[in-house]
Amino acid sequence: MESEAWAAADWPPEKTAASSRRPRSGREAAMAAVDSFYLLYREIARSCNCYMEALALVGAWYTARKSITVVCDFYSLVRLHFIPRLVSRADLIKQYGRWAVVSGATDGIGRAYAEELASRGLNIVLISRNQEKLQMVAKDIADTYKVETDIIVADFSSGREIYDPIREALKDKDIGILVNNVAVFYPYPQYFTQVSEDKLWDIINVNIAAASLMVHIVLPGMVERKKGAVVTISSGSCCKPTPQLAAFSASKAYLDHFSRALQYEYASKGIFVQSLIPFYVATNMTTPGSFLHKCPWLVPSPKVYAHHAVSTLGISKRTTGYWSHSIQFLFAQYMPEWLWVWGANILNRSLRKEALSCKA
Ligand SMILES: NC(=O)c1ccc[n+]([C@@H]2O[C@H](COP(=O)([O-])OP(=O)(O)OC[C@H]3O[C@@H](n4cnc5c(N)ncnc54)[C@H](OP(=O)(O)O)[C@@H]3O)[C@@H](O)[C@H]2O)c1
Repeated sequence: MESEAWAAADWPPEKTAASSRRPRSGREAAMAAVDSFYLLYREIARSCNCYMEALALVGAWYTARKSITVVCDFYSLVRLHFIPRLVSRADLIKQYGRWAVVSGATDGIGRAYAEELASRGLNIVLISRNQEKLQMVAKDIADTYKVETDIIVADFSSGREIYDPIREALKDKDIGILVNNVAVFYPYPQYFTQVSEDKLWDIINVNIAAASLMVHIVLPGMVERKKGAVVTISSGSCCKPTPQLAAFSASKAYLDHFSRALQYEYASKGIFVQSLIPFYVATNMTTPGSFLHKCPWLVPSPKVYAHHAVSTLGISKRTTGYWSHSIQFLFAQYMPEWLWVWGANILNRSLRKEALSCKA
């Protein structure tokens, strides 16, 4: 206040005879410079006052919007991952039908998902490449959960020829739930030109074509019965472009978009379509013994993961299926792309190093 009064009353300082005669000392010159700057600043501030207020309003609106989004995201995390576990389990048979088909069902997430559905009373059709493994898992599930099981031996990397036999094998069953789980991954994260041509065809045939064709086989029956669920397992690597996993992450982005578009097309016909986007789960795909397997709350076992994921069925159209993965997903959504790419490069480089040193 004092300085304002001074500025208003004494500016510009009157030139006294002494001051005009005597050359200014360094200190006086510096003070004069500060005073002129202060005056200039006040002038600018006065003329920009309304702009400042407008900017402050925009800032407040942006902060409020972001805070509301974070609160809503946190609420939906709790609603999705904790509340369904407190209430009684949904009756999936009544909601969708008696049979479920799971592709890639002899190991990892596929097997755990099949077991979780069987624990809720559904009969299971398991599809994989290896007949003995299929028979063993099918018997195990039938004995443990007292449900019917059936197997289909099919190698999805073979392309078009396998789908007619699958259609034939499924034609007399009322399929209520289809789980598109099967996928292939690189042996370890690699730059694109180092990925073999065979692996690229596998990624196209197994990750992309299998889900599309399986939906094409099963969906008409669901639409006719006016109920059913299609769960397609994508991957956290589809959130943003992921270097050193280019083809794999792109194939998972296809699945995510495919599921979301299907949901828009078929929700009105009674079909629930879910895009399931797990981050790391402790399976063979993530190399057992890797440092990833040492952090169970970030990288759950397939059994724990499937238990949580199935409880989101019918509730969320697009979810990671597991609470700590949803926190990772939130971070991934809010972080800028350069930060994601930087983190992915570091992680994938160390995974490659680890895999190569295990091989040596
Ligand atoms: N594990 C993770 O950290 C992670 C993270 C994100 C997303 N995902 C996704 O989750 C899904 C399951 O992954 P997972 O880790 O559980 O895999 P996994 O443990 O490697 O199991 C793959 C399953 O697919 C079958 N399979 C593989 N190639 C096949 C083919 N060409 N034809 C038919 N069946 C085939 C395998 O059985 P056979 O060998 O007996 O045929 C096995 O039952 C995948 O879509 C994956 O991308 C996994």
